[in-house]
Amino acid sequence: MDKYNISTKDQYDSIYKDSINDPEGFWSEIALRNFSWKSKWKNVLEWDFNHAKVEWFKGAKLNITENCLDRHLESNSDKTAIIFEPNNPNESSEKITYRSLFERVCQMSNVLKDKGVKKGDRVCIYLPMIPELAITVLACARIGAIHSVVFAGFSASALSTRINDCESKIVITSDGSYRGNKTIDLKGIVDDALLDAEIVDTVLVVNRINSKINLIEGRDVLLRPLLENAEKFCKAEVMDAEDPLFILYTSGSTGKPKGMVHSCGGYMVYTSYTFKNIFQYKKNNIYWCTADIGWITGHSYILYGPLANCATTVMFEGVPSYPDFGRFWDIVEKHKVNQFYTAPTAIRALAKQGTSYIAGKDISSLKVLGTVGEPINEEAWHWYDKNIGKGKCPIVDTWWQTETGGVLISSIPGIIEAKPTFATLPFIGVQPVLMDNNSNEISESDVVGRLCIKFPWPSIARTIWGDHKRYVDTYFSTFDNMYFTGDGAYKDSHGNFRITGRVDDVIIVSGHNLGTAPIEDVINEHNNVAESAIVGFPHEIKGNALYGFVTLKNSSNISENIKNEINKLISDKIGPIAKLDKIQFTEALPKTRSGKIMRRILRKIAANDFKNLGDISTLLNPEAVQAIIENHIK
Ligand code: WTA
Repeated sequence: MDKYNISTKDQYDSIYKDSINDPEGFWSEIALRNFSWKSKWKNVLEWDFNHAKVEWFKGAKLNITENCLDRHLESNSDKTAIIFEPNNPNESSEKITYRSLFERVCQMSNVLKDKGVKKGDRVCIYLPMIPELAITVLACARIGAIHSVVFAGFSASALSTRINDCESKIVITSDGSYRGNKTIDLKGIVDDALLDAEIVDTVLVVNRINSKINLIEGRDVLLRPLLENAEKFCKAEVMDAEDPLFILYTSGSTGKPKGMVHSCGGYMVYTSYTFKNIFQYKKNNIYWCTADIGWITGHSYILYGPLANCATTVMFEGVPSYPDFGRFWDIVEKHKVNQFYTAPTAIRALAKQGTSYIAGKDISSLKVLGTVGEPINEEAWHWYDKNIGKGKCPIVDTWWQTETGGVLISSIPGIIEAKPTFATLPFIGVQPVLMDNNSNEISESDVVGRLCIKFPWPSIARTIWGDHKRYVDTYFSTFDNMYFTGDGAYKDSHGNFRITGRVDDVIIVSGHNLGTAPIEDVINEHNNVAESAIVGFPHEIKGNALYGFVTLKNSSNISENIKNEINKLISDKIGPIAKLDKIQFTEALPKTRSGKIMRRILRKIAANDFKNLGDISTLLNPEAVQAIIENHIK
């Protein structure tokens, strides 16, 4: 990437300028130099934000797996592509070379083809963090099928919603998964999900936990025997740069999850270029992102970005607390990890345990630390810097979203200085702006506003699967000709951005996006619940936790039981990550005269901030506020 490798601040400034003055020239240069294309594009970029239309490199032909695998075989076939670190530290880790990954992806591609999967078909993947997950994702890309990975912590109901939304006829899963000292019956969850997703005719099952698998005849097939017998070569499907590569669901503030659609060409170019520069990845480095491939971070920065750069990427099956809170540092020591990328919630959970779990471990291989998923608080930042980075590793606080495909705002190690709690400066080609409440662009610094991006970057999502209107309405209709992120941000006098959090009804809990309305819908299904409102409140480890205000139809039988039933409902319908930390029953919820629940007030109460409730006299029922404060759970 020579000329466009960012290695000094001056270079960043000049490349940034080029990328803004001539985005098409800039990105076509990056695309031409660094990837193998079967044929070139006609136009670099076509776009119209008001209709949410963005096309990069349209007409160009490629296959992303040839860029992630085939082209590395000539000189790097024996290089480790993926280090698989199992949940149990006593089980051996597995190093998968580029040659072996290529062959296993080809075998999986052949199995999928054999099962009738064709270009454009959707394939639902519900697997734990085992090699077959990476292999299946890449196999879909190889044959042009659109993968839809569903995080294996989601419930049966969440899974069936996603399968039905994209009409996936095939699901790849495992008998179960390991998480710390627990095992989870994934196949059982799939069986339940499929009761509501009749469209599925094939389930391929990987054996992971050696349980007795209940195979449903005519539908379920064990995967490993099929793989063993499959050919180790499969020709890559020729894809247009604008063909969909995958769908990944993200929570909306209302309604069902949004299937964000990413395309082949722009996504490849942007994730690869950001990976290399933001982590300052150098040949032979060992890179580890602790995310799950069920989230965008895993798609872009465990798989596609690193593999396009011929990197060695670690894939960890387990959790940070098993067998004890030193597991991350054991892995760093064991594999001599150079770049380590995790979420603030994990840092806070580990910091709480003190430093004894780090003592005596050699983590001196670390060079760059990263965080993603939510704002990092000052205390956690300094703990990370001091105890893990030993004051020597730059921290990149990377801000981005499922919708953006890749990192949009971040410092660059040794080049753009980190500033605690700030994501800092826009990445190359990214044009962030803050908007005020009157829809004007704020030109001053030292202000807070709503964060928008005013020009497309190559990996912006192209649509919401099956609902382009929703895509336009959600992201492009709040401000004219802008992509609206849903986040608020502060900009300092040097142009550094600090993300202040969501400005809509999405709450980020332990780095996971949760829409409040879908959770409320589930609670309201309880036969004794009349109404509910969920808000976030600050939580020491999770960043935010969920607080539910619930009114019952029959308040004479308030009991702990109902709280448990509510959380069980949420766990069954969405997943354990959406469970409420606190539930307060109340006679009434504060409402405006037009009947809208005043969440702003509930948010303050949940945060114990009773002084700044604002004017409540205009409410329909101001007395409800007083009653809620009196019964508020400290
Ligand atoms: C939040 C994760 C502050 C933000 C890649 C965004 C962050 C949402 C950061 C997207 C960060 C992500 N600092 N907030 N570094 N990174 N966020 O789609 O609110 O799971 O809109 O993508 O997470 O979450 P998603």
